[in-house]
Amino acid sequence: MFGLHYRLERKAIGLVLAIIGVSSIGGLVEIAPLFTIHQTVEDAPNMRVYTPLEVAGRNIYIREGCYACHSQMIRTLRDEVERYGPYSLAVESKYDHPMLWGSKRTGPDIARLGGKYSDAWHVAHLINPRDVVKESIMPGYPWLARTSLASEDLGLHLKALRRVGVPYTDEMIEHASNDAYGQSAPDSSAAEGVTKRYGEATNVRAFDGNAGRLTEMDALVAYLQILGRLTDAATKPVASAEK
Ligand code: HEC
Repeated sequence: MFGLHYRLERKAIGLVLAIIGVSSIGGLVEIAPLFTIHQTVEDAPNMRVYTPLEVAGRNIYIREGCYACHSQMIRTLRDEVERYGPYSLAVESKYDHPMLWGSKRTGPDIARLGGKYSDAWHVAHLINPRDVVKESIMPGYPWLARTSLASEDLGLHLKALRRVGVPYTDEMIEHASNDAYGQSAPDSSAAEGVTKRYGEATNVRAFDGNAGRLTEMDALVAYLQILGRLTDAATKPVASAEK
């Protein structure tokens, strides 16, 4: 072996080619799997985008630092699947910019939180967690219920998300502020447009219990109630598991 090396070192071109050959192995190992990415990452053609109200709620979730204590990614480990439900799929985060998988769980994972509790439970819990979970160490966020939601610029938020690949239509962007109001005011004339643009299954209700006022609480609860529910890809049986 050292004989080969000795001979190779004396041939400059051969040595250069050998170096390129050896050092490209690492690159190939990293790059080659990407050619099959369409087979690895599942598809979810019926996945819906976040409504403007849910986008606003997501922004509040980021602003308040909820991700510092809550992850949104269920790992493939048995204890996680038994506790939280089907493990998270890559496709479920495809409209999340930035993603909020998180790396710390002071509180539980909330990737499949949508529909687990009532809106009223969330409102009470966010105002003062100890009111519903006696031993909770989560901080309260009472101002969310008092603060009106700034919804005028939501169209710009959707536009920015479209830039990075979320398929918002011009119509969705144009009606963003109005749709945010409509989603939390089911009896208003604005409510109809929300289900028209985002689908019949969209939650349209007074999330904070008061349809007359659009608050940050409405937005955050609307967002929490949709977590894990934009697509049912994760609950469908996997092809290989059927065999
Ligand atoms: C300091 C850490 C911490 C922060 C920050 C925090 N939480 Fe929590 N959260 C917890 C803990 C601990 C629990 C479990 C006890 C409980 O239910 O209150 C919890 C529970 C929850 C639950 C119930 C989950 C379930 O499945 O039972 C929700 C929903 C929730 N938090 C939402 C939020 C939101 C939204 C924010 C940001 C506005 C937030 N949390 C910020 C620690 C935190």
